[in-house]
Amino acid sequence: MKHPPALGYLADELGQLERDGLLRTPPDDADGLPGSFCSNDYLGFARETSPVPDAFGATASRLVCGTWSAHRDLEVAIAGLVGLPAALAFTSGYAANVGLLSAVLRPEDQVVSDALLHASLIDGMRLSHARVEVVPHLDVHAVRDALRRPCAGRRWVVTESYFSMDADTPDLGALREATDAAGAALVVDEAHALGVLGPEGRGLCAAAGVVPDALTVTLGKSFGGSGALVAGSENLRAWLWNRARSFIFSTGMSPLIARTAAVAVERVRAADDRRAAVAARAEQLREGLRAVGLPALGYGPIVPVVVGEPARAVALARALRRRGVFVQPIRPPSVPAGTARLRFTVTAAHSADDVAAALGAMGDAIREVA
Ligand SMILES: Cc1ncc(COP(=O)(O)O)c(C=O)c1O
Repeated sequence: MKHPPALGYLADELGQLERDGLLRTPPDDADGLPGSFCSNDYLGFARETSPVPDAFGATASRLVCGTWSAHRDLEVAIAGLVGLPAALAFTSGYAANVGLLSAVLRPEDQVVSDALLHASLIDGMRLSHARVEVVPHLDVHAVRDALRRPCAGRRWVVTESYFSMDADTPDLGALREATDAAGAALVVDEAHALGVLGPEGRGLCAAAGVVPDALTVTLGKSFGGSGALVAGSENLRAWLWNRARSFIFSTGMSPLIARTAAVAVERVRAADDRRAAVAARAEQLREGLRAVGLPALGYGPIVPVVVGEPARAVALARALRRRGVFVQPIRPPSVPAGTARLRFTVTAAHSADDVAAALGAMGDAIREVA
């Protein structure tokens, strides 16, 4: 007797995603794509070839093969950049956040989570089995209230410094005060801020004069590469080395990437001209969208425009693509239902003409999709 294929159900599920306007079909020509407004390469470094040769592979987990000089130099440079004593390199921001939170949180702990945290932070909290209290986005009062509730273990607050779906920032100073008052730890993911925001691109904790207990740095955005680090105390680094499973059970970061990123730290610090260019282009885009009645959220290089239902976001993104402008429609579950959006990200590689062309295309797309 012939059995139906075990994974046959996937065709039905994919069909349903398509009917709901939720099927993701990104382009497969990204390396040659002009007109992209979806890149996190805010300073425009990603397409440059590495200026420093080094070994391609770390050959094993660093627990097995040890630390390469490139890892050590990168970790020292990143700790210096964010003003914390130490840092440990992971192969991605996803691995860093999952490894960090699952290693430090215990099941009896309470962790207060902003409603819009990135999936990597959510997955880390889930793996830890700690009690997670989700509070409304950016609501410091709700954080204070949550920290007053009884808890058998330790307390934690986890947030991002620049949220990538709404382009906004929590009051980091108030969160530090609230966590200090409650004896809680503060974890801040600076993925989208580091490099492009704050003095010398040192991020928004540095801008606010806040010292978090753990800080996630990703290299896949303003640094133009890939990988990530968790910065904090020497003891935190030693604990992660011993307990972060995504670090322990995974091949170490490529020395080539580590060496390139260590050099990028200095370039990022010196890139005030690129940061100014990004800020000017983002403001041009935001003002242009608002001028035609489109509500562009937030501030800084990410420019989200809420358009409502997923199907409308997809139709607008397709209409833009036909006009040579590549923007991602962001749909549930990445954002709450009814708030599907187009998310433009502006980089130092965009010219004023590129932004003007995108605004023109957006006007046409809106008229076409209505
Ligand atoms: C806030 C945040 N943290 C972590 C990550 C994951 O970083 P990576 O792409 O290096 O895995 C992202 C990436 O999109 C992010 O937006």
